[in-house]
Amino acid sequence: MAAAVGVALDGARAAALLALRDLILHERRTAGLTAVADPSEFLEKHLVDSLSCIPVAAPQAGEALVDVGSGAGLPGLAVGVACPGVAVTCVEAVQRKAAFATRAAAALGVPARVVHARAEDLGQDPEYRERFDVAVARAVAPMPVLLELTLPLCRPGGRFVALKGPRADAEVEAARRALEVLGGEVEEVRRLRLPRSGAERRLVLVRKVRPGPEGFPRRAGVPERRPLS
Ligand SMILES: C[S@@+](CC[C@H](N)C(=O)[O-])C[C@H]1O[C@@H](n2cnc3c(N)ncnc32)[C@H](O)[C@@H]1O
Repeated sequence: MAAAVGVALDGARAAALLALRDLILHERRTAGLTAVADPSEFLEKHLVDSLSCIPVAAPQAGEALVDVGSGAGLPGLAVGVACPGVAVTCVEAVQRKAAFATRAAAALGVPARVVHARAEDLGQDPEYRERFDVAVARAVAPMPVLLELTLPLCRPGGRFVALKGPRADAEVEAARRALEVLGGEVEEVRRLRLPRSGAERRLVLVRKVRPGPEGFPRRAGVPERRPLS
């Protein structure tokens, strides 16, 4: 199924992704990870969907990628499995989810770093600010909010890929001011259908064209309460 979204996996990587699925399904209730309980539905809706960002984000070995609002580790850990040599960091605000993703990365042997934090705080921390070549985020926030959480983490010239549903065009339209303030330009909105259900997806590729202004991101919670619009 991964091939249908443009990702080639050898047997070992496909097996590692199935192991990730099984770990998430095993702990899905206790750690509050997902409502999807059916393994084949999970495979398409969560794993294949997560992998779909790879051809657009095109992370290269040696590059640093951050997954903002990673939850159980998606798409970050899936990218870590599929793209060896990419330094993956998963950022998650909820402790029990971050703890799960840490355990899952260790169990799978994915050398990903999981950080329990708010993206707004990392965006003002010199250890993380403008340190990543690529950012990705799936099911975290509307575009204007998401841009404030992710672009400050990208280096100038770096890129951000938002995994979105069919209303992405309207979200991009609503994000004009956020793009202007944060130094982003939309390069592409790629349309995609998931292979089994035919569900529509959009991958929004944003280039960071200049360094971000100092006051952004604002304090934790402010981007969501007062989105740039
Ligand atoms: C609906 S879940 C999606 C999780 C995962 N990306 C996925 O696709 O399965 C959204 C996650 O984003 C996290 N989140 C929301 N705002 C955040 C922020 N400002 N910093 C870090 N994590 C955040 C939430 O705690 C939640 O786990």
